[in-house]
Amino acid sequence: MAVLFVRAAGRRPAVAAFAAAAAAVAALVVPGSAVAAGAAQPAVPSAAQPPVVQNAAQAAPPVYSDAAALGKLLFNDPALSASGRMSCATCHSPSHAYGPPNGLAAQFGGPDLRSQGTRAVPTLRYVLNRTPRWVHVQASSFAERVTDADAAPTGGFTWDGRFNRLQDQATFPLFNPNEMANRDPVKVVAQIEHAPYGARFRQVFGDTIFATPAAALRQAMYAIERFQLEDPSFHPYTSKFDYYLDGKVQLSAAELRGKRLFDDPTSGNCASCHLDQSGVNGAHPLFTDYTFEALGVPRNPELRANRDPAYYDEGLCGPLRTDVASNKAYCGLFKTPTLRNVATRAVFFHNGRFHTLRDALRFYVERDTDPAKWYPKDAHGRVQKFDDLPVALRVNVDTTDEPLTRKAGGRPAWNERDIDDVIAFLKTLNDDYPLDNGPHAQKVAGGR
Ligand code: HEC
Ligand code: HEC
Repeated sequence: MAVLFVRAAGRRPAVAAFAAAAAAVAALVVPGSAVAAGAAQPAVPSAAQPPVVQNAAQAAPPVYSDAAALGKLLFNDPALSASGRMSCATCHSPSHAYGPPNGLAAQFGGPDLRSQGTRAVPTLRYVLNRTPRWVHVQASSFAERVTDADAAPTGGFTWDGRFNRLQDQATFPLFNPNEMANRDPVKVVAQIEHAPYGARFRQVFGDTIFATPAAALRQAMYAIERFQLEDPSFHPYTSKFDYYLDGKVQLSAAELRGKRLFDDPTSGNCASCHLDQSGVNGAHPLFTDYTFEALGVPRNPELRANRDPAYYDEGLCGPLRTDVASNKAYCGLFKTPTLRNVATRAVFFHNGRFHTLRDALRFYVERDTDPAKWYPKDAHGRVQKFDDLPVALRVNVDTTDEPLTRKAGGRPAWNERDIDDVIAFLKTLNDDYPLDNGPHAQKVAGGR
């Protein structure tokens, strides 16, 4: 009962929050700007398909569609890969909050499962049906860029926001040589046709659907999208923090202290990007504002791509994204991820550079006070701060938001005890918190 209630509450669309964000963006640019105004519009539905739930401005449908049920089978089917051994669920593990099942910086795919990707697998929980469309509000001058008139880019799917629709995103891993590595769309469609769920696919999308492979593939991607948006496993809202927001449990002293450090604009200042306030309509927070930032995460030698010293993953500037690469102010920026279930992960940041939450947090508070701890030295013994970006682009790294403003030798915003408490707080974002009766009831009462 309790779970149902929470789920229903959590599912309420964050219309207010999204509208507020869009309005904030609009207010920051020229009033009535076509870019900002257009951004709040839902996706233009293609003629061939029903409208897409693109963002929180549209509510999730009350029933579980046939397409979503089919999408679940597609999401979990390894036969849809060149290796025959990799499905979407291999990397987005349902038992790991749809994040990676291991601590690898990037997963291995391809026909023989030996080609390493270049980015860490993000969780698919919570964020997908509330991700706003990509918004690119370009500052018209340098003066504007350094003043409040400039707004950070927002939204879109993947670390660089290059997809606006989940059905478009889904084709990427299917055909990416490092992932599911298919080459021929017609073959993928043939797999679906001859899969145990082939007949069901016909029932849902029409008897003749397989006669037009392009249409069949489009519907398959649509089905995967529906699954990701509709299935309750993507938004359970069963964390201790959710129950806390609903007044069902209390946070412990350490968790509350951690939250204060997380919120305090003069300390962690984390909540300025990883939003933790409920929406006006009660929608529970997702710990992201979907904006893009360059944090200067150190280069990760675990990534094979990094063996080439000329290779850089510049996020918005490519190499995976190409449409906004000319705007050098955006090079090195990646999307702010949700922190829900973050304490269950064993790999952090877009390049998977860190493997414990503690190190990820230490990096935030010690990046500037003790750079030598995080970055390598060059031949002259100089610390190569922000070494995962070409020298000319390192100016893009955020040095204005707390706690990223400190001087070398200064005092970090948090000490180890503070970090303990923030970790305790972040652990309250793990789903499946045992509420009410059952063997764990004692723990709940004790505030854990
Ligand atoms: C080999 C591992 C792997 C496989 C297989 C895989 N993904 Fe991903 N997925 C990733 C990585 C890595 C990213 C981040 C990609 C980027 O930033 O370019 C990602 C990103 C995503 C995102 C964007 C999430 C967000 O918050 O923006 C979605 C949605 C997604 N994947 C769905 C799928 C679907 C659907 C499939 C199957 C068709 C799939 N993935 C297969 C590794 C994988
Ligand atoms: C200015 C916006 C901003 C602030 C402030 C901020 N973050 Fe982040 N956070 C990001 C972005 C952007 C990323 C992804 C960066 C990347 O991978 O290059 C990120 C990534 C993370 C990750 C890795 C999550 C994952 O799934 O890989 C953790 C953990 C995290 N932040 C915690 C914090 C904490 C704790 C604070 C406060 C000390 C904080 N953040 C402050 C924007 C911010």
